[in-house]
Amino acid sequence: MMVSMAASVRRVVVVGLVVVAGVLGGGSMASAATAPRIFGGSVVPITDHPWQVAIVRHSVTSAWVGQFCGGVIVDARHVITAGHCLGVDFDHDGEFDPATDFDVVAGMPNLKATPGLPAQRIQIATWGGMPQFDVAANVSPYDAALVTLSQPLDTLAPGVRPAVLVGAGVPTPAGTPLNVSGWGTTEALPNGSPDLRSTDIFAVGDPDCSAFFDLSLTDEATMLCAVAPGKDSCSGDSGGPLTRADSTLVGLVSWGPQDCASADGAPGVYTELAEPTINSFVRGSTDVPYTPPQATASPTLTGTAKSGETLTCNPGSWTSTAPGAPEIEYRFGTADGQTIQNWSQATTYVVGANDGGLRIVCGERARDASGAAFAASDPSDPVVGPPPAVVPPVTTPVAQPVPGPAPAAKPVDSVAPRTTFLSISCRKRRCVVRVRVADRGTPTSGVKSVRITALPARGAVRTVTARKIARGIYEARFSRVSRGTAWFTVATRDVAGNRSPQPAIKHVRVR
Ligand code: ARG
Repeated sequence: MMVSMAASVRRVVVVGLVVVAGVLGGGSMASAATAPRIFGGSVVPITDHPWQVAIVRHSVTSAWVGQFCGGVIVDARHVITAGHCLGVDFDHDGEFDPATDFDVVAGMPNLKATPGLPAQRIQIATWGGMPQFDVAANVSPYDAALVTLSQPLDTLAPGVRPAVLVGAGVPTPAGTPLNVSGWGTTEALPNGSPDLRSTDIFAVGDPDCSAFFDLSLTDEATMLCAVAPGKDSCSGDSGGPLTRADSTLVGLVSWGPQDCASADGAPGVYTELAEPTINSFVRGSTDVPYTPPQATASPTLTGTAKSGETLTCNPGSWTSTAPGAPEIEYRFGTADGQTIQNWSQATTYVVGANDGGLRIVCGERARDASGAAFAASDPSDPVVGPPPAVVPPVTTPVAQPVPGPAPAAKPVDSVAPRTTFLSISCRKRRCVVRVRVADRGTPTSGVKSVRITALPARGAVRTVTARKIARGIYEARFSRVSRGTAWFTVATRDVAGNRSPQPAIKHVRVR
């Protein structure tokens, strides 16, 4: 498998180093049928991703032709991007180009459109990568850079807003739903997409992520990995935002498998903004202090948690330093981070017919020129009503290879599936375990069974057949798990009879 961090460039060929990563477990995993593909995403309005900017070449009139990286607004004068986006030499003078050769474009969802308002294009004054980032390396930790603009952005214009930065040291646990956006390569558009696209992916634990790459490339402290089957960032998305469902910015697109949305499940790798050194670099280097609105009271949720009833999100209160009142929006979600009703001005949610058992929270977001912040209500009681229907597959179908002439002998799948833990969440002695299963082999025979075993601190060992909840994702539930450290293992078999070589194992504290 190959990995690539070199910023991709439209219509300009840049020769970048390509590192060949070691592949654990042997066997050939990179399939020729997987073309690079934001992969598995859809076109999104900039008003839903108002912190997203494009970094473009100043001398190129078309934002589309000149775009080569993404970035994120942190305040009216500052944007952050990947450190490797600074390592470009478009004028071929053998040196990296100066900051003033580049502009930031904000509020422009379609880079090919004739820019009208709210699109803003502002020349960069200075930029600098983190001192720990090695701009000459193909892949390096601390892949973050701070961009200072020559003039402030109008962050009150629609579609132009600073991001909410994650706090220092705040973890993003494996399985957290995340979103990534950009104008990079898609499955159908090798030169990238003129329209901003985004896709929903999940955080992957550091060890599970490292297992896909040459260990000399990975740095668990400064990387955050995420992927979903058929969904990934890709070339040209670098420097762009990785956000949680509540829109908190947790990462920047950094690197990943060269065959984006790799068939073997290798995640995309993001710069982890919660890492304390990176977090203070991003916050502390701004000459305008980062002073987003602050919640002085969280919103509260009132109403009956029952299908068909209306829940109301009662606004909390905010203080802000920027002129004017902050823009306030609401979102309804589950206590574990899934979105039920996305950000809007609506303060009410009619509890769905199949929301039974969910604990609902409402979030309130305040945004003004100095930043954005988020506050959440306490969760509701579990909703009374029918439980959620079985989740339909959420992924777009993966392109099938075009059938070629019939092979001489029928190939046999001789490679066992690879199984990794996505998340284990235990609450009130109930544990929900999700695993990702990637069937491997040419051809793949298909997953036959996924069995998850719980070894609680006390009491009997229990094995449950996990059910498929999405393409490649299986879930098992355990109730009345005894308190203390519980271990989980998973064993997978494919139709051809191959068994996962050694069972994956993970432990968790049950409270
Ligand atoms: N390095 C790429 C860029 O410059 C980003 C690659 C991300 N790759 C991935 N498979 N997620 O745009």
